[in-house]
Amino acid sequence: MLKIAIIIGSTRPGRKGETVGKWAYDIARKRNDAEFELVDIADFNLPLLDEPMPPMFGQYSDNHTRAGSAKIASFNGFVFVTPEYNHGTCAALKNAIDFLYQKWTNKAAGFIRYGGAKSRDGENNSKRLQAKASVAYWDCSPLISCRRVCSWPSGLTFW
Ligand SMILES: Cc1cc2nc3c(=O)[nH]c(=O)nc-3n(C[C@H](O)[C@H](O)[C@H](O)COP(=O)(O)O)c2cc1C
Repeated sequence: MLKIAIIIGSTRPGRKGETVGKWAYDIARKRNDAEFELVDIADFNLPLLDEPMPPMFGQYSDNHTRAGSAKIASFNGFVFVTPEYNHGTCAALKNAIDFLYQKWTNKAAGFIRYGGAKSRDGENNSKRLQAKASVAYWDCSPLISCRRVCSWPSGLTFW
């Protein structure tokens, strides 16, 4: 059975990312063609990249990297739930992608992006990231505007 991680990328206290991630997970887990797991980047407790070797070699020296790496390696694909921060993805998710580079590669991924202004720029940013990590990009990702979320999609409420 395929294992798909729904990745909560935002780590900010009071983040909306947890709500969006749980909403996606509740929909996904009703499917029976794959196993889904909600994975929170905050649980990895990653500092800013502190590995002496470039992560593409997969030679990790720190326990936090090894633990995160083993988790990500166990999945066949990902749904990244990412906010838009200053026209890009958030630093915590970018840091985790940098850290665990080798474990994301050659897998499939999609994005759920949200932001105050519909996260248009986050889309291009995410695509660039995935192209670099050799991840097959699934190009039908929803965009969510926090300002308009009361009317779309159903079942998801921020406030
Ligand atoms: C540092 C920062 C930068 C932001 N930059 C953007 C932006 O460029 N475009 C946008 O649409 N929203 C932007 N926002 C609004 C966030 O996308 C929105 O508050 C979202 O809920 C943040 O996700 P989070 O609650 O999971 O942290 C920004 C918010 C923060 C905190």
